[in-house]
Amino acid sequence: MEQPPEAIRSQEGQLSPFDWYAEMRAEDPVRFDEQREMWDIFRYEDVDRVLKDHDAFTARRTREDNEFSSDAEDDTGMLQTMITADPPEHNRLRGFVDERFQPGSIREYQPRVEAVTEDVLDALAGEEQFDFVDEFAIPFPVTVIAELLGIPAERRDQFKAWSDALIARPKNGTQTEIQRIQQERQQARQEMSDYFTKLVAERRGGDGDDFITLAANTEELSREEKVGFCILLLLAGNITTTNLLTNAIWSLEEQGLTDAVRTGAIGRKQVIEEVLRYRSPVQSLNRIAIADVELNGKQIQAGDAVTLWLGAANRDSEVFDTPEEFRPERRPNRHMAFGMGVHFCLGAHLARMEADVAMQQLLERFDRLDADLSNLDPLYSLYGLKSLPCEVNRT
Ligand code: HEM
Repeated sequence: MEQPPEAIRSQEGQLSPFDWYAEMRAEDPVRFDEQREMWDIFRYEDVDRVLKDHDAFTARRTREDNEFSSDAEDDTGMLQTMITADPPEHNRLRGFVDERFQPGSIREYQPRVEAVTEDVLDALAGEEQFDFVDEFAIPFPVTVIAELLGIPAERRDQFKAWSDALIARPKNGTQTEIQRIQQERQQARQEMSDYFTKLVAERRGGDGDDFITLAANTEELSREEKVGFCILLLLAGNITTTNLLTNAIWSLEEQGLTDAVRTGAIGRKQVIEEVLRYRSPVQSLNRIAIADVELNGKQIQAGDAVTLWLGAANRDSEVFDTPEEFRPERRPNRHMAFGMGVHFCLGAHLARMEADVAMQQLLERFDRLDADLSNLDPLYSLYGLKSLPCEVNRT
């Protein structure tokens, strides 16, 4: 697990890397970090260029990088998935499923997502206090993915346990704890891999509209790649959406805007876009240079690793007015929280719809939702919180 840069290694730095980003954008926008032996890139224009220049930068992983990517990379012994493939291989791995994540398809899934939201909220019935992260923001997206993959209801608890093991993070950071987490993660991966291998085989030739059947029936992918695709959906789509939901409640409560969203004075969709920009769930991505490139006056050489700070690009004043302010009304809002180029998030429309449905039902159910912001504990690496205690009143 790679360390963050020294400037943001403390808890405070993890919670608020934004001053450091501003300093770097102004003073050293393309810098080489000797300690981590990699380039850091902060300005919107440069991040955009690297993400779109597939001839000069590869998404293949040649070293353990950030958790988002290394988790998606498989130590289950499977072949690569779309997220670590370059064109034209990337087109083959993504093409068969692209249509099913377009807005038209996503609208069809909405009633099922609404039903999942109701179920997760029903489980909270009668509670006046709950932890938003553990009891809503984590189970909700896992259950949505389970539903879309077509995991039978009786296996959902097992599925959630696997997913928990995959995203578990050390709490006290002792060697024993880290080892235990790594072992459990490895075991969960292996079990999931076996489980999906079985389901993919069973559903081949079937006519279900779930993603496992879709993968099982495509001619484009090998058997291992089909299993890799199923696991990728789970890895790429859960903690990211958990963080979007948590960061949304955190930001609304902090800004005193929860009621304005409840009454419709501020649109939910605009809020979601601004949360994605202001507190981007994925703060950074990694690439490796495969050609020598000059960027903002610096020479990056083939083989060099780069970190692209999406969170910094999303607050670049060349692109956003008053970037340090949370302003849901901003239009356009050209944030790159979902990345850029061919790897632009496959699940972007789904995540937006999930967040919209979740926020609507939460605000309908609770006429007061007081989040305790006094003791924020940041998540390491991907940007969010470990917990967010809330006190609620029901309507
Ligand atoms: C790719 C962010 C939700 C599936 C990405 C990338 C980002 C991202 C930044 C680009 C990775 C790169 O270029 O290396 C997010 C955020 C989400 C979210 C912020 C929630 C707020 C989802 C969901 C799913 C999903 C719900 C699926 C169910 C994927 C996949 C890729 C991807 C499969 C790889 C696409 C490719 O390589 O072509 N996501 N994601 N994501 N995301 Fe998401």
